[in-house]
Amino acid sequence: MTTPRPETLAKLTPVLTKRWLSPDAWRIGTYEQLDGYAALRKALKAHPDDLIQLIKDSGLRGRGGAGFPTGLKWGFIPQGDGKPHYLVVNADEGEPGTCKDLPLMTHDPHALVEGVIISSYAIRANRAYIYIRGEAVHAARRLRNAVQEAYDKGYLGRNILRSGYDLELVVHSGAGAYICGEETALLDSLEGFRGQPRLRPPFPATHGLYASPTVVNNVGTIASVPPIVLGGADWWKTMGTEKSSGPMIYSLSGRIVNPGQYECSMGVTLRELLELAGGMQPGHNLRFWTPGGSSTPLLAAEHLDVPLDFEGVAAAGSILGTTATQIFSDQDCPVYATYRWLEFYHHESCGKCTPCREGNYWMVRVYRRILAGQGTHEDLDTLLDTCDNILGRSFCGLGDGATSSVTSSLKYFKQDYLDYIEGRTAPKLSDKQLVGAH
Ligand SMILES: Cc1cc2nc3c(=O)[nH]c(=O)nc-3n(C[C@H](O)[C@H](O)[C@H](O)COP(=O)(O)O)c2cc1C
Ligand code: SF4
Repeated sequence: MTTPRPETLAKLTPVLTKRWLSPDAWRIGTYEQLDGYAALRKALKAHPDDLIQLIKDSGLRGRGGAGFPTGLKWGFIPQGDGKPHYLVVNADEGEPGTCKDLPLMTHDPHALVEGVIISSYAIRANRAYIYIRGEAVHAARRLRNAVQEAYDKGYLGRNILRSGYDLELVVHSGAGAYICGEETALLDSLEGFRGQPRLRPPFPATHGLYASPTVVNNVGTIASVPPIVLGGADWWKTMGTEKSSGPMIYSLSGRIVNPGQYECSMGVTLRELLELAGGMQPGHNLRFWTPGGSSTPLLAAEHLDVPLDFEGVAAAGSILGTTATQIFSDQDCPVYATYRWLEFYHHESCGKCTPCREGNYWMVRVYRRILAGQGTHEDLDTLLDTCDNILGRSFCGLGDGATSSVTSSLKYFKQDYLDYIEGRTAPKLSDKQLVGAH
């Protein structure tokens, strides 16, 4: 195990995670003692437009994967249109490897609740929803409890802190479908329909929940709002890089000594994160990793010093995504890992569009064939051709994301595929698991 050097420890910037280890951090009393609801008091004295400007100035970008500028998104909400406005928090967190929103809601639910109230006030919404994935029972309980505590204290409901502002907040549990994390599928699901993506335009900013102006933001995005209100845009920008400001929760999993959440300034490198996490497990050497979950192209050991911000990861040919850093070693097989991810995408494909529904179905079969030692060289062309027909031709990002590990593993680890096909690696799947592969 490696002990982090002081200069690497200094990369830790606990802002969203700062209360997580406090006793009873999820209770309103603890939250209030640790700055809780101070930002709300400050925000309610400001004009909503000034809050939107503050978030624009901070450079905050969405933490849900795409990194869209949050202030800009809020600015798209038409004002004075006479329609109800909604804030919907995306707490579905379904991307494999991602584990930042659930611990935040479990340990510090009031950070999200306070963020919801300030953000709703800024966009002039009187009703907000937190859509949380169905399996996250514990986090949902903590969240519902926090919402009730906030109502009891007058932070939610009518005439919040005598400001004249009203807000109702509903915590809604989904049924546990990855596609319901896609924002328009989420809105359909929230309205009671089957969760499938909607055609855009129109965008949620004008035609979102119940065809009304709606902001959909990730948990981490909304929980970043109270610290920005308290600390100011300039303080926020002291962390991170010019175009990727602020801290980010990196969730590290896999072959490392101390998996978990590490909140660092954006632009930290995997080399530094590994040092913070105690290094690779004994006997394991880094071979491949995902910078932002399984929908982002794999990177290899040569990318240890890539700055993990939106621009740095893009320049290295991948995507920052949800900063779900899954770490694999020389004892892991990139072909098998890709197969397991594809099984996931195939299972979670909502079936609305042909490239994703059919493409993932067939790619799973090709992988089974290769892993059973019955693959051919043409199979590799078939995989690339199928990816070509899915990427950019699918109705939503699920299809695009499914191709990431396929194309990137073929780019960096083609030899591993050839070893199965040419018989140098023993088959990982049996004939029985091959059903339907031909
Ligand atoms: C298949 C799919 C699943 C997604 N799952 C999530 C999710 O679980 N949580 C999330 O915040 N965003 C998810 N997104 C991204 C959302 O569509 C949307 O961009 C995000 O909620 C916007 O919030 P942000 O601007 O705060 O990042 C997903 C996108 C796709 C295509
Ligand atoms: S890409 Fe996949 S998940 Fe998205 S709409 Fe098409 S079938 Fe559904």
